[in-house]
Amino acid sequence: METSPKPVTVTIDSHQISVPENTTILEAARQHGIRIPTLCHHPALSAWGGCRLCVVEVDGNPRLTASCVMPVREGMNVVTTNDGIIAARRLILEFLYAERNHNCMFCSQSGDCELQALAYELQMDHLTVPQSFEAFPVDITSEYMAFDHNRCILCGRCVRACREIAGAYVLNYQKRGIQNQIAFDLDVSRSESSCLECGVCMQLCPTGAIFSRYRTHRSVLGHPKSARQVKDSFCTGCGLMCDTQLVIEENHVIRVDGCLHSDHDGPILGQLCARGRFEILKTPGHRLLTPMIRESDGTWNPSSWKVAMDRIEKNMNGFNMGIFGLVSSRCANEQIMIFRDMMLKGWKADYLNVLEGPSLRSIADAWTELGKTFLALKESHAGRILDADHVLVVGVSAFNTQPAIGGIIRRIVLEKGVPATVIGSVDAISPRTRHYIRVTPGKEPVLVQAFLAQVLKSQHQPGTPAWESVLSEFESIDIQKSLSLAGLDASDQEIFQSAVNTFAHSQSPIIIAGRGVMGRFGVNCLRHLMLLSLTKGILPENALRMIILKPDGNSTGSLKLGIPAGNTIYRPGAWQRGVMLLEDENLSDSLVLNRLNALDFLAVITPYFPEALADKAHVLIPRPVGLEEEGTYTSLNGQENRVRQAALDRPDQVSESWQTLLALIQRTEFHPGYARWKDIHTSVMREIRAG
Ligand code: FES
Repeated sequence: METSPKPVTVTIDSHQISVPENTTILEAARQHGIRIPTLCHHPALSAWGGCRLCVVEVDGNPRLTASCVMPVREGMNVVTTNDGIIAARRLILEFLYAERNHNCMFCSQSGDCELQALAYELQMDHLTVPQSFEAFPVDITSEYMAFDHNRCILCGRCVRACREIAGAYVLNYQKRGIQNQIAFDLDVSRSESSCLECGVCMQLCPTGAIFSRYRTHRSVLGHPKSARQVKDSFCTGCGLMCDTQLVIEENHVIRVDGCLHSDHDGPILGQLCARGRFEILKTPGHRLLTPMIRESDGTWNPSSWKVAMDRIEKNMNGFNMGIFGLVSSRCANEQIMIFRDMMLKGWKADYLNVLEGPSLRSIADAWTELGKTFLALKESHAGRILDADHVLVVGVSAFNTQPAIGGIIRRIVLEKGVPATVIGSVDAISPRTRHYIRVTPGKEPVLVQAFLAQVLKSQHQPGTPAWESVLSEFESIDIQKSLSLAGLDASDQEIFQSAVNTFAHSQSPIIIAGRGVMGRFGVNCLRHLMLLSLTKGILPENALRMIILKPDGNSTGSLKLGIPAGNTIYRPGAWQRGVMLLEDENLSDSLVLNRLNALDFLAVITPYFPEALADKAHVLIPRPVGLEEEGTYTSLNGQENRVRQAALDRPDQVSESWQTLLALIQRTEFHPGYARWKDIHTSVMREIRAG
């Protein structure tokens, strides 16, 4: 039985304080509102005791003690501030300043720097020790972050954050003495290293050593910290819904931090990826604040809302053929639902899909196929990866869509030695993969089928009618032929066999399926992976041991709302007139662009002027960006729905998306049963929960 720690009574600055044993002096002081300055300490990290800024006097001993690592003991008497302590702290700070270039004038972090703030607090107005002017390197090989070693104080927060929060183990110390530096892997540049660019090192850096290349000097350009707001939110980038803290100045997000304290059941506290931390700060073009109409000579001109809406009505109403709708699955569920009703019920669209449609269709169809034999099941929560004893990654070329999942896999492989198998044309978790089964691109489905057939042969399955039918389906598979077809040579085949054995003997594997097993021919492959998961039983929450990496943040919400819908097989020339609802995507590399040439009519509802559609669209209607309006998003596994509140003010000229969509739907023949935000939200939640 666990016993609670014994209380200990100590005196700190003449205050008698009772705290549990093993509490550090620093924690005890902070719990009672007594300030002790720190630098290398961070409450989200293990204590290190390296910088000595937190020194205090214990029991009158003239040798000062680092309070962040020293536990309290009964009767201890602590003094946190006197002339001697202040002088010691100031000297430590002087040495830090003297060692490298901490010329705040030229630092992007000036005004937002813990080292600088301490210099002010300790009134350090000059140095009494000689300065070193040795130049250290600056790494700007990352698109997102710079590492200026001249500003580094070697506090080790980045090293611990990389290990303890990101689980990446990329950063470490190299060299000794004055040459001591933080290094990436075996001292390569950030871009050459195994860094995932999650940015947690930057978030916890107390100086300007690691800084965002997206906000350089933002904090000193007349934006005093006092004008800042910090708002809790969550990332809608990939469906993991990691908690964030948005730092906002003048209605702009200038920084996104991972939330280090949260009640939300995310996989790892404090985790964020480059997508959630940096990509969100990018804007894909000019903001659209007024409706625009393309004239017959190709020029775009602003128009009134009425003229633009009339133009859409005239070009969409009364046409029964070739109507299509495309929606971004980054949109909130409420927007997706109204858009769906507008297109299907209002304009009788015969094609309605998300921008990355073929992948989603295969997921929906695979679940339907599985449901014909087995009960309705669902996907696993991403946190299950942490409990896995084998990870099978299939069809993932890179963890671009759900980078955080790549980070979690790396963590369990490194920390727990969990074996990882990769099936695909690229080894997405190299160099840590135990079994990499390289297949000819596009042949993943053949190999997955062979993998399943081999596991079924080696494992006894329950003799239920459902399993009997599955076994009969795979009895006749010629495994050797499949391996040859997938391009496996003799040594690959040995790896295949070893991977099958590892999977067969695992108790709680997890299967991660990526884009390589989706799309037009992916239904069977996904179903085979679902069956593979079923060979290991069903999780208590009625879930498979499987996670499907979907293309966008709210792809699962789109699926639950019945999108893709209608005839979603694209035929050239079948699209004549349509409407798109965009979020913040950069369409330049989108698969759908070629399908949008020579349309009779295209209206686009979008926050930004879509350059890629400048010669394709006819009417543009502005809408707020995601952070300017409230909306519900569904998690990657479909089991959680979270409402994200508006964090930024919407421009006065732009209506909320639901109001714009409602104004459009009222111009069709369909009259929805919802007219207020509350009704829309209620309808969405009802559908999502039933979906
Ligand atoms: Fe205690 Fe650095 S904060 S030693």
